[in-house]
Amino acid sequence: MTSYDIAIVGTGGVAGIHAAQIGQLRGRARLVAAVDPDRGRLLGFAERWAVPRLYHSLDSLLADARPDLIDLCTPPGLHAEQAVACLSRGHTVLCEKPPARSLAELDLIGEAEFSGGGRFATVSQHRFGSAARRLRRLAGDARLGPPMTAVCHTLWYRPDEYFAAPWRGSWEAEGGGPTLGHGIHQMDLLLSVLGPWREVVAVADRRARPTATEDLSCALVTFANGAVATVVNSLLSPRETSYLRFDFAYATVEVTHLYGYGDSDWDVTPAPGHEDAVRAAWGHGPHGQVSGHGAQLTAIFDAIEAGGTPPVSLPDARSTLELITAIYASAFTGQPVKRGEIGPDSPFYRRMDGSGAPWSAPAPRTADSPASADVLS
Ligand SMILES: NC(=O)c1ccc[n+]([C@@H]2O[C@H](COP(=O)([O-])OP(=O)(O)OC[C@H]3O[C@@H](n4cnc5c(N)ncnc54)[C@H](O)[C@@H]3O)[C@@H](O)[C@H]2O)c1
Repeated sequence: MTSYDIAIVGTGGVAGIHAAQIGQLRGRARLVAAVDPDRGRLLGFAERWAVPRLYHSLDSLLADARPDLIDLCTPPGLHAEQAVACLSRGHTVLCEKPPARSLAELDLIGEAEFSGGGRFATVSQHRFGSAARRLRRLAGDARLGPPMTAVCHTLWYRPDEYFAAPWRGSWEAEGGGPTLGHGIHQMDLLLSVLGPWREVVAVADRRARPTATEDLSCALVTFANGAVATVVNSLLSPRETSYLRFDFAYATVEVTHLYGYGDSDWDVTPAPGHEDAVRAAWGHGPHGQVSGHGAQLTAIFDAIEAGGTPPVSLPDARSTLELITAIYASAFTGQPVKRGEIGPDSPFYRRMDGSGAPWSAPAPRTADSPASADVLS
């Protein structure tokens, strides 16, 4: 069995989750290097996870080492620049979500992947739980029938203090609010099951948080197969939930979780007369894998060993980012947006807020409010 050497870039909150999951892969991967300009964070991380090689910049890592995978755990505004630097030297990159702040940035990453020969994968760990993998296999199965409608809710709660972190809440550094930064997980899973989307109608607002970005969006998404989904992304919801519901002609399939699910978080309700066929279909296939970064890393290593493309590849990430961009574009223009409509001439191609959000700038930040450290995304 090959053991993969991984370098983590950015040693903040999410990097600890990556390091813990790498440690649980039982020899399939080793954390060999870490990068962070913040010396205190870097040293603390290195001590906690026994990382042998430390760097204060990505450039110094790239000049000195050749790990099998460079794992970008930096704030969103750095993803495109750092991914391009790695890909143009032929490295394989795993990048935390969102992969980029805009379609323009993602297309630059695509060009660097094409010309440099490296591979780019986006973290979207909820694609990889066993129940989601079973559902994707069943999505075209006659026993479930065609998809009719779906619900995709990311109803989370982030207090004002959460936005004290310098990169949160601005179009420039974070790129967007819950539509880009939080709901991306559920929307990506929705698309991985239902396939290409066709048209979006949406609203977005900044109702309560001290942000330039939205704190709420609601969208109606029509898919190429005719299914229609309601998609809500909120940071204002005290009872938090991540909820996905798929109504096929002969079965409702639902998952309720927050930051990750196991098989028992899923429910299947057959339509009358379809009980045996639906239960047989749902019972078959992979079981026992919780969703998470470890599940995605395993899928990435399996793909590399099979000579395939590490998931989630650029075309899949682009479809999700294009849907997100369309939600902003529809909300800010008041018009429906079709897939493929947002090209380089659109202001939404370069920024999620296009030529500006339709609400006023936020109140200035208070310098002494602490960042909340106990939330995952
Ligand atoms: N997949 C998930 O479930 C999940 C959960 C949380 C966060 N995230 C994503 O992970 C990313 C990081 O989030 P976080 O909460 O860990 O942020 P964070 O602010 O806690 O950590 C970011 C780290 O990057 C470092 N950094 C800044 N500039 C750097 C540079 N030029 N080179 C190297 N390191 C640099 C910072 O010093 C900091 O240690 C974001 O894109 C976020 O959306 C994903």
